[in-house]
Amino acid sequence: MHRTAPEGHRILVSAPYGSDAPSLQSVLAGQRYDVTICPTLHDLAVAIGDDVGVVLLTEEALSGDLAQLQLALQQQPSWSDIPFVLLAGRQAGRAVSTEAIRRRLPDNALNVVMLERPLSSESLFSAVAATMRARQKQFEIRDQLTRLDTESTRLVTLLDALPVGVAFVNPDGTTALANPEFRRFLPTGEVPSQRAEGAGEWEGYEPDGTPVTRNRFVTARALRGEIVRGVEFLHRPAGKPEVWTRVSGIPLTVGGHVTGSISVIVDIDEQKRGQMALAAAAEELERQVAERTEALTEALAQLKAEGEERERAEAALRQAQKMEAVGQLTGGIAHDFNNMLTGVIGAIDIMKRRIASGRLDGLDRFMDAASISAQRAAGLTARLLAFSRRQSLDSRPTDVNGLVVSLEDLLRRTMSEQISVSIVPGSQVPAALVDANQLESAILNLAINARDAMPDGGALTVETTLVTLDEDQCTKWPGMKAGRYVVVAVSDSGVGMDAPTLEKVFDPFFTTKPIGQGTGLGLSMVYGFAKQSNGQVRIHSAPGSGTTVKIFLPMAEAGVGPADSGVEADHRGDGETVLLVEDDPSVRLLVREVLAELGYTALEAADAQSALQLLGGGHTIDLMITDVGLPGMNGRQLAELARQSLPDLPILFVTGYAESATERSGFLGPNMHMITKPFQIERLSAKISEMLG
Ligand SMILES: Nc1ncnc2c1ncn2[C@@H]1O[C@H](COP(=O)(O)OP(=O)(O)OP(=O)(O)O)[C@@H](O)[C@H]1O
Ligand SMILES: [Mg+2]
Repeated sequence: MHRTAPEGHRILVSAPYGSDAPSLQSVLAGQRYDVTICPTLHDLAVAIGDDVGVVLLTEEALSGDLAQLQLALQQQPSWSDIPFVLLAGRQAGRAVSTEAIRRRLPDNALNVVMLERPLSSESLFSAVAATMRARQKQFEIRDQLTRLDTESTRLVTLLDALPVGVAFVNPDGTTALANPEFRRFLPTGEVPSQRAEGAGEWEGYEPDGTPVTRNRFVTARALRGEIVRGVEFLHRPAGKPEVWTRVSGIPLTVGGHVTGSISVIVDIDEQKRGQMALAAAAEELERQVAERTEALTEALAQLKAEGEERERAEAALRQAQKMEAVGQLTGGIAHDFNNMLTGVIGAIDIMKRRIASGRLDGLDRFMDAASISAQRAAGLTARLLAFSRRQSLDSRPTDVNGLVVSLEDLLRRTMSEQISVSIVPGSQVPAALVDANQLESAILNLAINARDAMPDGGALTVETTLVTLDEDQCTKWPGMKAGRYVVVAVSDSGVGMDAPTLEKVFDPFFTTKPIGQGTGLGLSMVYGFAKQSNGQVRIHSAPGSGTTVKIFLPMAEAGVGPADSGVEADHRGDGETVLLVEDDPSVRLLVREVLAELGYTALEAADAQSALQLLGGGHTIDLMITDVGLPGMNGRQLAELARQSLPDLPILFVTGYAESATERSGFLGPNMHMITKPFQIERLSAKISEMLG
């Protein structure tokens, strides 16, 4: 449709008489109007259209059948009311009857302007222009209607397609406009709060979970002027599944008055059920976790109880094993001591009887027998002490290479003829911090084991090396410190040992040798000695492939010192006074005897207290010999007190076993010496002579 020309400029002219039509046409065309001449009413009816601006006709044109014109006007759109400018002629003798002429127009031509002829062109122009302006207004209305129509079509299309229910609600609760989604929930077009029976289709909930009452329904609230957002409703359509919805309401107001509301319904069923399922799942999960936790706690408690039970059982087992070991140990000691005591007691008995009956010949044999048995007993206690790490060790820097070389002769004599002996001192082996006598005896023990393992001959090798142990290696050997160690390895090519034997070799009295041939203390002694020397023993052995026993000894920081003078020369006393402190009468008797024999004067005390009295009693005392393990104050403490009044007094300690005396270097002060029980008389007298000489 044209907004500008020619609509609004188009004029239909119908003037059947004379030159009316052409002259009107030429006048109007001069005013830039677009003029169409319609000679008949039929032509006019055909030309009528909604683009026509004005119809200009003369009275004479209305003298035919108007039905066709009437029909054409009827078919005009509602906004269109085509203006008619009717030119009536003044006839002589009659006044123009406007009404009469007008009535000749079809009754649906309502917009009529009458002009009387003759009239000036100005009057015609101004009448045509005025009607044309009025017609222009109609066109504008037409355009606005068209725009409104487009918009409303758009809105309806949008509403129809919206997945959300929307309705414009009238103040009485009926819907003025609702989209299909909304009608799904309200097919009656009336909000439930307005219908008693309808409310039952809905069940709404306030945020606190209580059901929404009728006047709290969203639309009811919106119609009271409240903006309501997101109230959840369970919608229960008859015969269909329930649906969860969320409803909002917005009041529509004009000048402060509520003229209706917009209601919006969203189907949240899927989301809501998802949420509820999630909540249920979370609850279920929580329940399960609680259940599991409880089960776990129970299991833990049970495990703990079982652990405690097992610990008790293990403790009982350990106790049983300990008792077995103690039994084995005491049994072994008792057995061996009985044998030895039989030798001693038997020999002494026989001697007593022979002396009583005056048969003094051949007593030597029995004396030797008693002495040998007693020596064996001494050997046994020495090994026991070594194993229990209670022996008195004289650890000092020792040249281990020199020591093994000096042992070569002894080892050769000890081995059988079919056994070859090699001594392999390592190069650059430094001194080890060790008790030389004990090391000799350990090597001898190992060599004898090797010999016993090679009844048909073989090879014995004694080797020395220097090894460095790092932290890593030490973690495998409990109690070992990282550092440098002198290793003495004694290897044989003998029968070797199986795993079960290897496990027990260090147990005291464990032996596979026939009764009388082994006490099972050899390796126990070596083990205890190495441990007490801050070292370690390792055994490698397998049946048929021989055995290597390695003794690890800590490297000495200092070099080898001057050796013990080892003076064994008999030194005769010159009446010097010796204070003898010893609680055991037999030992006291023996030592006193030795002192008398050597020409010394002996003062005796059975404990430290009496010794102190003698020390302060005005005697000149040249030497104190004291037992370490005295009742009450011990020998070391006595020495301490004695030295307070006599700082230069030489002191000789005698010890059997003393925990505090296990490491001599720390135990002995200046001019103090030590001799271990049981001692040979020669050794004691040599020591006394050395100290007084
Ligand atoms: N070099 C070796 N070859 C094979 N078996 C050995 C060797 N050294 C020790 N054994 C085994 O270990 C056991 C224990 O040895 P250990 O030296 O402690 O006691 P013993 O030699 O039996 O008796 P003892 O040494 O007291 O006279 C031996 O009986 C033997 O079975
Ligand atoms: Mg042995």
